[in-house]
Amino acid sequence: MSPGETVAVLGAGGTMGRAMAHNLLQAGVAVRAWNRTLERARPLESEGAVLAQTPAEAADGASFVLTMLRDGEAVIAVMEGDDGALRAMTPSSVWLQMSTIGEAATARCAELAGRHSVAFVDAPVLGTKEPAERGELVILASGPQDTGLRERIAPLFDAIGKKTLWLGGAGEGTRLKLVTNAWVLTVAEGCAELIAFAEGLGLDPGLLFEAIEGGPLDLPYLRTKAKAITTRDFKPSFKLALAAKDAALMEESAEARVLDLPLITTIRDRLAQAALDHGDEDVIATYLTSARGAARSGAR
Ligand SMILES: NC(=O)c1ccc[n+]([C@@H]2O[C@H](COP(=O)([O-])OP(=O)(O)OC[C@H]3O[C@@H](n4cnc5c(N)ncnc54)[C@H](OP(=O)(O)O)[C@@H]3O)[C@@H](O)[C@H]2O)c1
Repeated sequence: MSPGETVAVLGAGGTMGRAMAHNLLQAGVAVRAWNRTLERARPLESEGAVLAQTPAEAADGASFVLTMLRDGEAVIAVMEGDDGALRAMTPSSVWLQMSTIGEAATARCAELAGRHSVAFVDAPVLGTKEPAERGELVILASGPQDTGLRERIAPLFDAIGKKTLWLGGAGEGTRLKLVTNAWVLTVAEGCAELIAFAEGLGLDPGLLFEAIEGGPLDLPYLRTKAKAITTRDFKPSFKLALAAKDAALMEESAEARVLDLPLITTIRDRLAQAALDHGDEDVIATYLTSARGAARSGAR
């Protein structure tokens, strides 16, 4: 990244996009911000971002276009549509695709980028709202093997993340993201069910944590999510609807390889069911499916 270069952040009003744009601005990077619902990106204006009316306007003259949108469909529409960013990008510009969109959409994005002679970096992230706000994401980057390009990108990734793993060809970042999400969602669904189980047996869930304290199964994530359940705090850090989308992407990749992974299918089912009523709440609201009516009334 050279002085004077601009980053267009598409999805700058979302939970993750806003935090990432904020940290780029804090690092002194010039940011053009676009969001479908423009008002959600408005707070970035007072931090120095220039708001754009369309993805193409944001991308025009920008060296980097960073997509942080809900899913593959949104990313492709925003890049390829009539006002899409690809129309305005030049062969020297770089597309940093950081949303979680799965293998098929990533392959489609790489193909689109190739058709427009634009460099494509598949770089989904690990970490929820709070790590994103602290600039502590882990970036799973793949695509360019060119060390010069990686060096150009490094200051941007350093502004939003604490660590970048450079992997192989485009798609490898997405594959690792799917695998890490399988772990996150296994722990989340497991946590939801074990708290419901403890409550159902008439036990204080706190006893579980006393029992496992300091041992190898005493995960900080488990404690955080269990606390959210017991305090009935389902404010979204990672929306349930997005987790359900990710579980479906995991299952799609497993099925494509004819893998026998029934836990992934169960997690996909449970999250899809919970998302019908609680999609805008945090992933851990999947607990409400397990605990049903008792949870809403606060019964233990
Ligand atoms: N939150 C997390 O913990 C987390 C962690 C790692 C990765 N991710 C991934 O990061 C991505 C963004 O997540 P988030 O938590 O920031 O989600 P979010 O808060 O729901 O924001 C979603 C963003 O996508 C935009 N969008 C949705 N549908 C669109 C469409 N059809 N056309 C154009 N824009 C559209 C939204 O615009 P509007 O404001 O107009 O709705 C918003 O900017 C997702 O792929 C998610 O899976 C999230």
